[in-house]
Formats: sequence, structure tokens, C-alpha cells
Amino acid sequence: MDDAQHPTEAAPDPLLAVEGLAASRGSVRAVRDVSLTVEAGQVHALLGPNGAGKTTTLDVVLGFCAADAGTVRVLGHDPATATGRRAIRREIGMVPQEGGHYPYLSVRETLEMHRGLRDRPRPLGEMLELAGLAHRAGRRVRSLSGGERRRLDLAVALAGYPRLLVLDEPTTGFDPAAREAMWEVIRGLAADGRGVLLTTHYLEEAQQLSGSVTVVAAGATVASGSSDGIARRLGLRSRIVLELPPDAPRLPPDLGPDVEADLEVAGDGHRLEALAADPAPLLAVLAAWSRSVGHPLDGLEVRPPSLEDSYRVLTATKDGER
Ligand SMILES: Nc1ncnc2c1ncn2[C@@H]1O[C@H](COP(=O)(O)OP(=O)(O)OP(=O)(O)O)[C@@H](O)[C@H]1O
Ligand SMILES: [Mg+2]
Repeated sequence: MDDAQHPTEAAPDPLLAVEGLAASRGSVRAVRDVSLTVEAGQVHALLGPNGAGKTTTLDVVLGFCAADAGTVRVLGHDPATATGRRAIRREIGMVPQEGGHYPYLSVRETLEMHRGLRDRPRPLGEMLELAGLAHRAGRRVRSLSGGERRRLDLAVALAGYPRLLVLDEPTTGFDPAAREAMWEVIRGLAADGRGVLLTTHYLEEAQQLSGSVTVVAAGATVASGSSDGIARRLGLRSRIVLELPPDAPRLPPDLGPDVEADLEVAGDGHRLEALAADPAPLLAVLAAWSRSVGHPLDGLEVRPPSLEDSYRVLTATKDGER
């Protein structure tokens, strides 16, 4: 199930390691078997349908919810112990799924309060800048828009210099520009050697940001690794489409034995659609055909399987079981 991620002797411990986690909310077994790791310098996305157990997993990591089974190590500490929780909360930055702030404090006052809780506080101006809130510093929290409140949540998470950031749907309610600005901040944090664990329902966002993802469904990890690796293991194939103009020569109905693809030539020899695990042999044959007839392949499209394609396959079966 995992990509080849076997640590060598020299590899440092991951910032976060969750193995075989089970956890309950009241009488509900919200998490049954979740495993994931986050390394320094990595953005890892935790994906899954509503109610899959993402927030519960993060709550265990942060020490807000007890594990029933499994092991959890956060920056080398155990969130099940009081000393572990204290150490974790000193070194971590978090954006909860639902943030809460004192409505009558200004943005500046809110951030100053959180700076006061940190051993090594980040300068206020830097926090405002990173979260895109410099123009709202004097505003009371109650008068912020939904997206601005979400930015305040991020600013608070950056009150110190956290080695690990745990962000639960951090970009929900963001306009496209704010989302891209947030991606830049997250990339910058990872480039600086920090680890980021985030949940999101925007699969495009996960694909853009995260080198690795964990997909959970009905409380259990169903896939983990890179987006490409997951698609490969699921046997998802690239889609190749070629649309030729009406005046182009016709494609032959049979492109030869070297093409390992499910393909269909239609539209009077002017449209080709194919699914192939490796598109290269088909592309080579099409390139040779193009040269021999002297017509370009302008309308050629090759689309590798996306994270969204994998996600659909992975969560369709699990959802049906619920
Ligand atoms: N306080 C609670 N009491 C009882 N059940 C709960 C409680 N909190 C969560 N649950 C249940 O636990 C399961 C997992 O919830 P969780 O919040 O971890 O899901 P999630 O993956 O974060 O979903 P979403 O994408 O909607 O945020 C759900 O079935 C949910 O209804
Ligand atoms: Mg949640």
C-alpha cells in the first residue's frame, strides 16, 4: 500500500508517525485503522469524504482525543501523556476545522495574545504579512469576512516557528487569490524544512501542494503515497485523444501490434480515443504515422490519471459499504 518509503539508517525520524490508529467519539468508532507519516520538508494531505475520520485523527495527534489502539508519535512525543501534550503544543502550529476568536479583540490584539503564548514569537508584522492581513490589523475580529477569519486562523498557527503544522481544511472559504497565496505560504514553510499535514476537499489543491497523500474512507487508510504511485497501483491509465480536422488523412483502423492500449478510431478515421498504462508506444506510432502522411498531430491530448480519478475509485467502494 505504501510507496517505497523505507527509511535508510541515515533517515531522520518523521515529524509525525501514526500507525494503526483507532479512536472513538462517544460510542462512534470514528477511526478504525489509520496510518500516515509526515517528514520534515513535506506537505502531506489527508483526504477522504465527510465523516471519514480526518478531524478525529488530527484530534488524536493534538492530544484532544484519546486513541483506542495504535501508536502516535508527534515530534518524538506521545500525545496520550500530559508531558507529551505540553511539548507538542509548544512546538506545533494548528488551524482547527472551526476556529474561534474573541470577537471584540482586534486582529492585532488577537495575534499579540497568541505571540505571548510562544517561547519564541514571530514578529507581528511577519504574521500579518504571511496571512495577508496587514490591511486588517486594526479591525475587530467580529467584523472580518469568513475568508479573513480563516486567514487569522493561519496567522495564529504561525505565532511561533512551528516544526509541524496541522491544518484542518485551511483554505475553505478562500477566494482563488487567497488560496494561491496560502499555497505559497505552505510551500515556503515546507521549503524551510517544516512539515505540514493538511486536510482538504479540494483534490486539485492536494495535487498541487502535496508530494504525498493519505486517503481515508470509513475510518481506515485506503491508499497512501504520491498521486502518481496511487494511480499506478490502482491500474488507472492515461487517456489519449486525437482529433484530426476533416481535411486530414484518415487514421488506419489498426495501428499495429506494438500499441498496448484500448483504443477506438471513429469519426471516419479522424478521431482516436485510447486508454494506456504507458502512452509512449502509441505516441511513437502516431508520430511515425504523422511523418509518413505529412500531417501534424495538433489536436493530440494526453491526460495522465489525476488524484481525483484515484479518489473516486478509492472512495466509491468504501462509501457503498457504509
Ligand atoms: N463529538 C462527536 N460525537 C459523536 N460522533 C462524532 C463526534 N465527532 C465526530 N463524530 C463522528 O465521527 C466520524 C468521523 O468524524 P470526523 O469529524 O473525524 O470526520 P472528517 O473526516 O473530519 O469529516 P469532514 O470532512 O466532514 O470534516 C463521523 O461519523 C462523525 O459523525
Ligand atoms: Mg473534519
